[in-house]
Amino acid sequence: MASSLIYAKYASIRARTLQLIEPLSEEDCCVKSIMPEMSPVKWHLGHIAWFFETFILQHYEKPFKPFHPAFHTMFSSYNKSGQTHPDPLRGLFTRPSLSVIRDYCRTVDERMAQVLNYHADDKMVNTLTILGMNHERQHQELILTDIKHLLSQNPLNPCFIVAQDPAPTAPKYPLASAPPPLEWCHFEGGLVEIGYKGEEFSYDNESPRHKQYLLPYQLASRLVTNGEYLEFIKAGGYHNPSFWFSEGWDWIKAHRREHPLYWRGNNGSWQEFSLSGLALLDPSLPVIHISLYEAEAYARWSEARLPTEAEWEHAASQQKIEGCFAENNRFHPSTAVVTSRTEPAQLYGDAWEWTQSSYSRYPGYNPAKPNDHEPMSIVWDEAVGEYNSRSMVNQYVLRGGSCITPQKWIRASFRNFLPASTNWYFTGIRLARDAT
Ligand code: AVJ
Ligand code: FE
Repeated sequence: MASSLIYAKYASIRARTLQLIEPLSEEDCCVKSIMPEMSPVKWHLGHIAWFFETFILQHYEKPFKPFHPAFHTMFSSYNKSGQTHPDPLRGLFTRPSLSVIRDYCRTVDERMAQVLNYHADDKMVNTLTILGMNHERQHQELILTDIKHLLSQNPLNPCFIVAQDPAPTAPKYPLASAPPPLEWCHFEGGLVEIGYKGEEFSYDNESPRHKQYLLPYQLASRLVTNGEYLEFIKAGGYHNPSFWFSEGWDWIKAHRREHPLYWRGNNGSWQEFSLSGLALLDPSLPVIHISLYEAEAYARWSEARLPTEAEWEHAASQQKIEGCFAENNRFHPSTAVVTSRTEPAQLYGDAWEWTQSSYSRYPGYNPAKPNDHEPMSIVWDEAVGEYNSRSMVNQYVLRGGSCITPQKWIRASFRNFLPASTNWYFTGIRLARDAT
């Protein structure tokens, strides 16, 4: 790819990042919510620039002039180097100010433009830049998850999306029309292939493409709705240990969970906090902010199970990538693509779908290794090898993207991964079952 073309893409992703934080004040950007794994918007911005400065500029800018030596530690997330500021303290950065962090981003942009120009034909520079751009896209999503959690802690129930009716009980959108009943879509299975195939960017954890043997299976025709999940709650789902993994049961007890994270109940009438504030719960929309524990319990209560990642990918690779994505700027699921049909809908967009598959290496996986760039292989190990493989324990795979994921970024082979207790991500439930 020509360097000007890469830089144009780099700049457009950055423009989107900055557009996303447009509705936020400096105070909004400074504070982080109570979840230890979350970060303030300021940190996300600094970290996005840190990635480019650390993995590209540090090695290709001559002479390398770091914006500020302390940023190398402040905005790092790579904890094995022992040079990371502890996550829970990130919300205490009243300095540098947001405008200094914006300057940091801007100077990194200028320096990146120069390096890309000077090293126009360097494959490594191009590959690392594209990785940095994909990294930035993942942080766009984290900016939204983290700001949602932060705003949800505020008694004013603030809207992130402006120009909406601020009355707390008014639905922020017209109620969606009731989706068609859940149907089962049949797949023969057999010997199938999963993993990335193509010439575009993909993460190393999507490779190598390999064979998997699938018994005949069925996937639900759409995501589980709020209304359906409410039935599980009314049936005492949160009070019956037989539906839960013991770890999940301990988790709902320890955290006193009786409903999804952003639901608020009083007298049987439910509201849901979203990025457009508090509104009546819409029973037709997909349920979101579900931990794997809750997804599993719901599935067991429904006499179904969660799909494996191979079942999911085999089905999804036959479907168009359509659904509600970040490009809609709605930042909440919709039912737009759900019609009665025998093909599964909503595999993409709306809500990340939990699978029952542990996140681990594919057979034959090797953390990405360039063979023609020996001097750079240490950076490569850190930037790329560390990127995905350091998390390959105690996490589960999620597929398909959500209403806050950019559509362009999603593909059938994309593997997201999170610990089973995660409920602050935009996660939902796709049911599966064995075909009999
Ligand atoms: C895949 C969402 C768990 O949040 O650490 C961000 C994404 N990777 N920076 C995370 C990611 C590097 C990752 N998750
Ligand atoms: Fe990151």
